[in-house]
Amino acid sequence: MTFTIAIDGPAAAGKGTISKAVAAHFGFGHLDTGLLYRAVAARALDGAEATEAARSLTPEDLGAGNLRSAEVAQQASRVAAIPEVRAALVEFQRAFARKGPGAVLDGRDIGTVICPDAEVKIFVTASDEIRARRRFDELRAGGSSTTYDAVLADVKARDERDMNRADAPLKPAVDAVIVDTSDLSIEAAVSSVIKLIQSRMSQSG
Ligand code: CDP
Ligand code: CDP
Repeated sequence: MTFTIAIDGPAAAGKGTISKAVAAHFGFGHLDTGLLYRAVAARALDGAEATEAARSLTPEDLGAGNLRSAEVAQQASRVAAIPEVRAALVEFQRAFARKGPGAVLDGRDIGTVICPDAEVKIFVTASDEIRARRRFDELRAGGSSTTYDAVLADVKARDERDMNRADAPLKPAVDAVIVDTSDLSIEAAVSSVIKLIQSRMSQSG
């Protein structure tokens, strides 16, 4: 018996931060599925064919150095619109979700496509401006010289592409709980999600 937690939402909403804390709290594994698309994108930027890169992805690809850059993020949302790329990544994600005692997966289509039977589905969101501000602070702290306006444009373009693609678009699952983190500290967001999961765990016995 495993317990699966699906955490989806737009760029820089806080999915990864919440997922890591939730996984640590419950002793579950955590998979940042965006990293898979970023790794395919990095290989595509190096000249590989995207579908081929997705089919032959290795653990080393996931450790590549530049995966958090804005350029890789934009390319990730382009390769993520290719159905064959998405199909090549499904089984790895589902296998991760099946591992006991439980797993937290974060991405765009976990609750809708990858793990439609997840015990808990959360859709994390925040205003465009707040998400751009958080990502801007993060990139600047990492040494980038980007501007807030560039990050805001980047986040909006990526969300737009992710919401409008035909295959597995970004949207809340019908049974997802929406968590808006615009006015929440990290601590408050994490503790509200943990409470929600605990109440589901006690209901399911
Ligand atoms: O995984 P995702 O892109 O959705 O977001 P993240 O990387 O977890 O969070 C983006 C940034 O926002 C990080 O620097 C977090 O520390 C920050 N954050 C925040 O300030 N307040 C929250 N409630 C959640 C995240
Ligand atoms: O951290 P952030 O939210 O900025 O991005 P990410 O989660 O690393 O995802 C990068 C890109 O990969 C997204 O903009 C999507 O286009 C794509 N992605 C996806 O299509 N499906 C997923 N399950 C995860 C990411």
